[in-house]
Amino acid sequence: MATSFPKRLQYKTRFQQALLAWFAVHGRDLPWRRTSDPYHILVSEMMLQQTQVERVTPKYAEWLEKYPTLEALAEAELDEVKGTWKGLGYNVRPVRLHSIARETVAHYGGALPPSAAALRRFKGIGRYTAGAVASFAWRLDEPVLDTNVRRVLFRVFLGTGDPRASAVERYLWTVAARVLPRGHAWEFNSALMDFGATLCTARAPRCPACPMEAFCRVQRRQAR
Ligand code: ADE
Repeated sequence: MATSFPKRLQYKTRFQQALLAWFAVHGRDLPWRRTSDPYHILVSEMMLQQTQVERVTPKYAEWLEKYPTLEALAEAELDEVKGTWKGLGYNVRPVRLHSIARETVAHYGGALPPSAAALRRFKGIGRYTAGAVASFAWRLDEPVLDTNVRRVLFRVFLGTGDPRASAVERYLWTVAARVLPRGHAWEFNSALMDFGATLCTARAPRCPACPMEAFCRVQRRQAR
């Protein structure tokens, strides 16, 4: 059976307003939110791919102390770079970062090419990471969809079906792009991440404290 998805994004404006108002009060002050250096943001996003914020925070500082620029990382030996990564797990990530640094220095004058599409040509940078760097560093209107964001958008705008199905995943990417208020990608994408990480959590969502409760699809299904 072909899955059909809502064509019109109902409650888009209410969602944007509720999320940004929530973020202004509850948004987290994280170290990578205090920079617009695309390399620093790339490092944070690569670290955060499989690792919790609490474990990433000290490593992020240590890494940037050692390799403050792409040039510094490109000049370092891979074994040493892998050693610096130790403790974060999934050790393909430092290898990728190191090769991105070397490629950037060799072919792009040491600066990451400033678009999501160009970033995605690097091995190790997928759609999510490209969107995160583009929206956080260059403030481009690029969507992000990671586990937390997927859960939030799924609940608010779909509320039923299999969130892991590839058709759902594709649909949620279009939702993430359509719901993004133009010119506000930095706040909006940060807000989606924090909202999913702290309020709309996987196992214990705090629905009574949620500003989306009146129009969230999951809530409306339960109320029927
Ligand atoms: N998880 C992945 N990227 C993140 C970010 N930029 N802020 C908070 N949590 C994240």
